[in-house]
Amino acid sequence: MPTETVYGLAGNAYKNKSVKNIYKLKKRPKKNPLIIHYYDFAKASNDVILNNDFFKLYKRLCPGPLTFVVKKRKNSKISSIASSNLETIAIRFPKHQIIRKVLKKIDFPLAMPSANISTGVSPVCAENVYDEFKNKIKFIIDGGKSKIGIESTVIDLTNKPKILRPGVIDGNLLKKFLKKDFVYNSKKSKLKSPGMMKKHYSPGIPIFINQKKPPKNHAFITFGKKYRKNKNYFNLSKNGDLKEAAANLYQTFRKIKKLKFKKIFVIKIPNKGVGIAINDRITRASK
Ligand code: TXA
Ligand code: MG
Repeated sequence: MPTETVYGLAGNAYKNKSVKNIYKLKKRPKKNPLIIHYYDFAKASNDVILNNDFFKLYKRLCPGPLTFVVKKRKNSKISSIASSNLETIAIRFPKHQIIRKVLKKIDFPLAMPSANISTGVSPVCAENVYDEFKNKIKFIIDGGKSKIGIESTVIDLTNKPKILRPGVIDGNLLKKFLKKDFVYNSKKSKLKSPGMMKKHYSPGIPIFINQKKPPKNHAFITFGKKYRKNKNYFNLSKNGDLKEAAANLYQTFRKIKKLKFKKIFVIKIPNKGVGIAINDRITRASK
């Protein structure tokens, strides 16, 4: 299914069988829980407990590229496999018109991780999904290129609000709407979001970050006006626009891999706003 962030592999979140299939297809570790997607908060409130912090953000930013970790209700119908037996559930209200239409019609939520093999690059168009799974899935709904191009921001609201995965909705915006302080997931803290696993988002060839120039014949991912055209140079945004760079990142990884380059060198990306999310993804991809 298309979403505004990346394409997702969707299944009925209430059915163990669907959820098991998702883990199997993705080769995803069982301890890494799935995001559950709903049409609106009213549908979600049967399965999870929604608090004040949730509503402050929901009002301003949903539907959109934001995922909330909240407490699961005792009588929640969500498959315990989807939530890796945790007492919390990650929920999201995607904005893409096609997925919204589907979510409005069905009477169950969708468990939907990014539609890629575990640890790989998330797909941002229907062709990318096909490249991941070939004929192992029956249908791909083509909703065009995902506008945002990187995964949603994940914020944990079960305690003091905490960003577990950065995204295009950045810390400043969240702080503004929450009207209170919160924490970034520090490197020392216990692995709370398994998506924060070190190796992730990897195109399958070595990546080197914060580079000034690539050795000859290797791919060089650049950013901004400074770089001339060259057959091994790939510019994420000539205008130096971080949002545009995020939207182009995964396609660029895939393109470079397809062109059979052996290594990727990436220029230093400004670490502010969406740049924080880009740096998070390229750092993990480089592990
Ligand atoms: O943009 C997105 O979020 C996309 C689209 C398809 O919606 N989905 C996506 O799902 O990126 P996935 O499975 O690739 O990433 C889900 C992230 C993982 O880092 C996972 O560990 C975290 O959410 N997560 C899920 N449930 C959690 C929970 N209860 N507590 C903490 N983290 C959780
Ligand atoms: Mg993923």
